Amino acid sequence: MKMRVINLIKRAAAVLLFAPSLALAAGAVLHLDRAPVSKDPAALQHGAKLFVNYCLNCHSASFMRYNQLENIGLSEQLIRDNLMFTGERVGDLMKIAMRPADSKVWFGAAPPDLTLIARQRASEFGSGADWLYTYLRQFYRDEARPTGWNNVVFENVGMPHALWELQGEQVAKVTENADGSKHVELSLAKPGKMSVEEYDSAVADLVSFLVWMGEPVAEKRKLIGTYVLLFLVGLFVLSYALKKNYWKDIH
Ligand code: HEC
Repeated sequence: MKMRVINLIKRAAAVLLFAPSLALAAGAVLHLDRAPVSKDPAALQHGAKLFVNYCLNCHSASFMRYNQLENIGLSEQLIRDNLMFTGERVGDLMKIAMRPADSKVWFGAAPPDLTLIARQRASEFGSGADWLYTYLRQFYRDEARPTGWNNVVFENVGMPHALWELQGEQVAKVTENADGSKHVELSLAKPGKMSVEEYDSAVADLVSFLVWMGEPVAEKRKLIGTYVLLFLVGLFVLSYALKKNYWKDIH
């Protein structure tokens, strides 16, 4: 009898736990490509360069200071020479001049701040990195859109394809699945400056940078955690020895 009750509770807990993900799975037919996220400083530096050159004119990263880029191995001089264009100081936040109200008129939506984007999308799709990696590689030409661009994972997005010179132009063939959902197949109509492999790898670096930016102290935090555990182990050994010493005459 007791076993049955326990089993019942277990089953109810499983249903409660998994119900939200089932609901999500039923609604979303999105296929996300797995992002090869890297912590390699060279990849992060390349990502930072792409970010500053191609994204920072519309998007801010206003929880991030330029000199925090020293944490991925860039010197202050390199940051000044290669990543700053408009006379900011290296201690400044990565803000932009465009006003949200203006961009809303131009694009139909204001470009959101990207400092925490990898974490925001993670709460929605499980992996923010996978979503970003797929999003930045699945823009296609769509003359019906004001910008001339559309996106497979973000339908009718207000953002034009910022990296089109690198990727080239994709076109979409839309077919309907048996269940009425849409299936979009992309093909490269006009090649860009990069081959498909080069572009995928550049986007992987950019996404790695976006992930790093969302939690720049992730590595430090793990290290501190390890130290704290080691300290507790040491403390335990010491207190145990102390206890033995105190009690040795009593037993
Ligand atoms: C010309 C301006 C412009 C540039 C350049 C630009 N974006 Fe955007 N971006 C936008 C706008 C506008 C939106 C809002 C789109 C919407 O909500 O429909 C957006 C939305 C996004 C989103 C979706 C945010 C969300 O979750 O709602 C991401 C991610 C993004 N941009 C990343 C980038 C990256 C990475 C770059 C650089 C490669 C970049 N953008 C360059 C204008 C721009």
